[in-house]
Amino acid sequence: DKGNHRHFMQKEIYEQPVVVAQTLRSYLRRMENQIAMPDMDFDLGGVKRITIVACGTSFYAGLVAKYWIEKFARVPVDIDVASEFRYREPVLEPGGLALFISQSGETADTLAALRHARAEGQIIAVVVNVPTSSMAREADLLLPTHAGPEIGVASTKAFTCQLAVLAALAANLARAKGKLTPEEEAEIVWHLSEAPAALNEALGRDGQIEAMAHLIAPARDVLYLGRGPDYPMALEGALKLKEISYIHAEGYAAGEMKHGPIALIDDAVPVIVIAPSGPLFEKTVSNMAEVQARGGKVVLISDAEGIAIAGEGCMATIAMPQVHPLIAPLVYAVPVQLLAYHVAVAKGTDVDQPRNLAKSVTVE
Ligand code: M6R
Repeated sequence: DKGNHRHFMQKEIYEQPVVVAQTLRSYLRRMENQIAMPDMDFDLGGVKRITIVACGTSFYAGLVAKYWIEKFARVPVDIDVASEFRYREPVLEPGGLALFISQSGETADTLAALRHARAEGQIIAVVVNVPTSSMAREADLLLPTHAGPEIGVASTKAFTCQLAVLAALAANLARAKGKLTPEEEAEIVWHLSEAPAALNEALGRDGQIEAMAHLIAPARDVLYLGRGPDYPMALEGALKLKEISYIHAEGYAAGEMKHGPIALIDDAVPVIVIAPSGPLFEKTVSNMAEVQARGGKVVLISDAEGIAIAGEGCMATIAMPQVHPLIAPLVYAVPVQLLAYHVAVAKGTDVDQPRNLAKSVTVE
């Protein structure tokens, strides 16, 4: 049932504040200011290396998790798309944990990778949205997302719920490794608790984003740029746009532009820059200025502070709430989802059932 919404995708975008709150409830002990994890029959503190494997949007959640786990827990993380993982003969040493991320819990490549990692003696952890799925059944540690059924082929609410779980996992690992003081843990709990309200605020920009869809809809190519944990958001924004509007789009790490893709820039290629204010802001903005100096038309997604500094000269800006960098990837998922959605609606494509795609890819 789509309720008042025109598409399942739209409904699922709008559910995010509620389902992220729902997901966080099972991973945060608000009263104690602590992260909570399900019981484990292995020692998380003993994990020496983490290997993350997933496909598509779930892979991008994994990329964000790599930044978080390495930053907070100082545990090295390898990450692969599932279709590459098995065949490259990865080195999987004892004491490693392999983490699989999947909305459906049934994606064939991811499931095959899980079985490979199990055979190689890894501890198996999964972040899945379907608690009865094959991956859930085969895991040592099941970390469910509580997004509820996701119908739209384009993954939206499952993604932000995955991020919520992965942030909690990174913090828990950091604590197990003795890398997190109780004060730091309390801060993380506090920042994560702010996510649902911030997601709501981000949804408040829907009308503005809808009104600018006509700027993107005629484009043949669109670039997305981000840095640090917001780089995967550029990849996710590009995937969403490709998938449902059939516009060719690419996500790049902002600093990579000058190593090739900047040759594409002219006034017909919109560039979406995802740049919350914070430690990486200035760097991203200087990459953005390189684009503008070559006639590129920029849409800047930032907060009031960022837009005040760098908004001038942009084709459009989208103002997000001022949030802690930890939750920025969750919050900035909303405008990239909404932008893809409105561009697809403007182009009249089948938003919930895009051509050539299936919700769950159960063949290799
Ligand atoms: O069910 P999974 O999370 O394992 O699915 C992985 C991908 O097939 C999925 O994220 C796909 O990329 C989405 N259609 C993206 O919106």
